[in-house]
Amino acid sequence: MNNFSLNPLGATTALVADAPHAPDYVIKLTDIEKVYQTKTIETVALHNINIAIRKGEFVSIMGPSGCGKSTLLNIMGLLDEPNSGTVEIDGAPVKSYSDKTLARLRNQKIGFVFQSYHLINDLSVTDNVELPLLYRNISGSERRKRALAALEKVGLSARSRHYPNQLSGGQRQRVAIARALAGQPEIILADEPTGNLDSVMGNEIMDILLRLNTEEQTTIVMVTHDELMAKKTERLIRLFDGSQVS
Ligand SMILES: Nc1ncnc2c1ncn2[C@@H]1O[C@H](COP(=O)(O)OP(=O)(O)O)[C@@H](O)[C@H]1O
Ligand SMILES: [Mg+2]
Repeated sequence: MNNFSLNPLGATTALVADAPHAPDYVIKLTDIEKVYQTKTIETVALHNINIAIRKGEFVSIMGPSGCGKSTLLNIMGLLDEPNSGTVEIDGAPVKSYSDKTLARLRNQKIGFVFQSYHLINDLSVTDNVELPLLYRNISGSERRKRALAALEKVGLSARSRHYPNQLSGGQRQRVAIARALAGQPEIILADEPTGNLDSVMGNEIMDILLRLNTEEQTTIVMVTHDELMAKKTERLIRLFDGSQVS
């Protein structure tokens, strides 16, 4: 037997079992630099970022507005590329992956939750939750089944036929979480998921995320402005002006 296996994404990676005590990193960023260049100004959004997220961790990211939190999350979620540095998912650098492979990784492995929910107002709650499954080979009845199961997990079964504008902010965010869950992702990336909510609704959302992390071992990385929310997570990464501060 050789030391390599072909993983489902078609990339050749060393078998983890061959490396004793190899940490089980789902996301690893090494020496990440990100610069936004517009006609007039250059913004260093991230500088010298080194972060490794272990399977099953719940990590929060804090820092002032404009310090690079969303940029960092987008790079972790393969929505954006760094100017330099390495992004690894499950121990394999993603640089060599085709756009198609990246899209599949994003769709199947990662669930995104945003501050402003990003729901489609013309679609019912269930149809919104089913959306990420449309890009997979899953039958309509199976899609519906998974969507309803995801809505059940966030306590919204009774609202499946509603439309987003008939729901409160907290309920909309729960729909957005259900949409992320429908794809059964290993990783949830949440960008200020409680940022638009009052503290009661914010705590409800936080409880759902904590439950997913403890009961289903979902790895979660969450950007937050709220120290109290961050305290509930296992690890806090602070950013300032694009750099990590300890
Ligand atoms: N698409 C873009 N083009 C130019 N500058 C950007 C772009 N996205 C973000 N930036 C800049 O990069 C910095 C980090 O932004 P961001 O990651 O959104 O910060 P945060 O989420 O912490 O508020 C900011 O100075 C922002 O203005
Ligand atoms: Mg942001």
